[in-house]
Amino acid sequence: MRQLLPVPVDDVDVREAVRPPAGPWLRVGFVESVEGAVVDAAGTSGGLGGEGDRRVFTALRAHADVILVGAGTARMERYGPHRPGPGDGPPAPIALVSAALDLDPAAPVFTEAVAPTIVVTSAAAPADRRRALDRAGRVIVAGDQRVDLAEALERLRAEGLASVLCEGGPSLAGALFGAGLADELCVTLAPTLTGAGGKRIVERLRGRVGLRLIRVLEHQDELCLGYLVAR
Ligand SMILES: NC(=O)c1ccc[n+]([C@@H]2O[C@H](COP(=O)([O-])OP(=O)(O)OC[C@H]3O[C@@H](n4cnc5c(N)ncnc54)[C@H](OP(=O)(O)O)[C@@H]3O)[C@@H](O)[C@H]2O)c1
Repeated sequence: MRQLLPVPVDDVDVREAVRPPAGPWLRVGFVESVEGAVVDAAGTSGGLGGEGDRRVFTALRAHADVILVGAGTARMERYGPHRPGPGDGPPAPIALVSAALDLDPAAPVFTEAVAPTIVVTSAAAPADRRRALDRAGRVIVAGDQRVDLAEALERLRAEGLASVLCEGGPSLAGALFGAGLADELCVTLAPTLTGAGGKRIVERLRGRVGLRLIRVLEHQDELCLGYLVAR
């Protein structure tokens, strides 16, 4: 994999290239087609990314203390737990954000997790579902109706989970960027036009967010871009 920015490197160490700053950090990771589709015709993101995206995805996970995922994505993509590669350190817990708690406690993301899966929800969530998910993993309550994402992040950070990787989806990413909680966007531009339509990487974003390009990696026509949120 080549690095083009911040300095050209022919065969870059991807893990080092995407190392986040120490301490609290929230990066949002996505893959999209050149026309901005986040899913292919099959309705999931799996078919969009190639080898370059896979390497960056794995490296981003290796740096994360916790992997934050919206319930919509967990349902569509049939999320499992983090399974680190060789030399990657311990698995990061998956933290699923959901108000409705339409999540299956018997799903692999709970039953196969080495680091217990966290469910981040609000006080108004159905109590019976909350109890069942608390047995399958553990539940954090932040906010009354919707999840208060700032409070949720504070709670995770208080547990030492400082470096957060959000893997989407678009609703959760839009809320994080809209609330000024995201520090970095890592986006792979897959060399394809899907014609699939549908969502873009942020949905219902309120207000415009400025981004500053800090990293460009390239592998077999895939561009893996890193942007800092301009404040
Ligand atoms: N290309 C990529 O890299 C990529 C990455 C991720 C996802 N995707 C695609 O994106 C699609 C899913 O999009 P989406 O927008 O539905 O995904 P999403 O953001 O993962 O899920 C939305 C759901 O997350 C929960 N949620 C999000 N923010 C919340 C908040 N502040 N408070 C409480 N709950 C909150 C809610 O769950 P409840 O309904 O349970 O309350 C909401 O319905 C899928 O097709 C997936 O394949 C693509």
